[in-house]
Amino acid sequence: MIYEKISLKKFNTFGINVKADHLATFKIEDNAIHFFRQRKASEQKYLVLGGGSNILFTGDYHGTIIHPEMEGIAMEGKKGNDIVISAGAGVLWDKLVESAVNNGLGGLENLSLIHGHVGAAAVQNIGAYGAEVKDVIERVRAISLDDGTVREFSNSECKFGYRDSIFKNELKGKYLITKIYFRLSTQPKLCLEYGSLKEELSLLGSISLANIRKIVISTRQAKLPDPDQIGNAGSFFKNPIVPDAILKEIQKKHPKIPVFKDRSGGDKIPAGWLIEQCGWKGKRIGDAGVHERQALVIVNYGNATGVELLDLSEKIRKSVADNFGIKLEREVEVI
Ligand code: EPU
Repeated sequence: MIYEKISLKKFNTFGINVKADHLATFKIEDNAIHFFRQRKASEQKYLVLGGGSNILFTGDYHGTIIHPEMEGIAMEGKKGNDIVISAGAGVLWDKLVESAVNNGLGGLENLSLIHGHVGAAAVQNIGAYGAEVKDVIERVRAISLDDGTVREFSNSECKFGYRDSIFKNELKGKYLITKIYFRLSTQPKLCLEYGSLKEELSLLGSISLANIRKIVISTRQAKLPDPDQIGNAGSFFKNPIVPDAILKEIQKKHPKIPVFKDRSGGDKIPAGWLIEQCGWKGKRIGDAGVHERQALVIVNYGNATGVELLDLSEKIRKSVADNFGIKLEREVEVI
């Protein structure tokens, strides 16, 4: 389906009311292939938008928004305890996690209740509670926006990093992901080291996929605002990995600063902590605010514009730089 001059309010979790010149939705991969083959890429301006849960629009979009709606979760193969399943890019992320957990397949449970659609999970390498989706992605199927050719990317070809992949870098704006293949397991290696996950599990009695999912959901619900109630896009910034010298300097004044080891071995400081130390937690300027329970989340209390939310984020960034000498990097994409 192709729509013209359509409001994007329902297509972004900040709830920003901007318009797109065109919006093209695809339920079937072949239709998308046909669409891109027919058009000269050099004459088009495209933006692929899944659940819109990691994007901030600061004005109308003068181009075509591509919205994948490919559905379906399927079992693709089995080898010992490993089960490969596929999911269409338009499947709601948490529906996939729920289905995996209900079928006794481990690997996605720590990623429960993350907003957005399956396609974006690979772009962003979504992560939570010690797990990252890259750990279970086998391959990613995508269509070239240039000429409609189909390509499958192996896990290593996706060049995953912390909230990062090839689709955010050299192939940014070049591919539409249509399907992802995940390698799950009936005997998964559980990831329980984050925060108090283990202790909370022991209170529930047994360690099971369903109980991990239950705890992750209740932790998220306690800390993070629901975008259906208050507009937001989860963490606005990435947690910075800081050089030893800066960390030592901060520790002189703040010996209790929380520090986590990044997978690459670097020291990661929670951006939420830095922002809270600068006094921003719970602050509000008009309808743009900093969430009262998680300072890393910028919220739209109603009618904030994208520019107002961006301005607030820049003020936060400046004060963290002034106070700690750390430049925060956005996780949210600004359009
Ligand atoms: N903290 C504060 N003040 C705050 C928020 C956090 O001091 O306002 C400190 C606390 O010490 C807390 C620590 O930061 O123990 C970590 O906080 P939290 O567990 O909430 O995690 P985070 O590092 O702020 C990251 C991800 C989240 C993910 C959680 C849980 C990033 C950018 N964010 O947040 O991902 O859910 O860990 O694993 O890596 C997202 O990407 O949108 C997202 C929500």
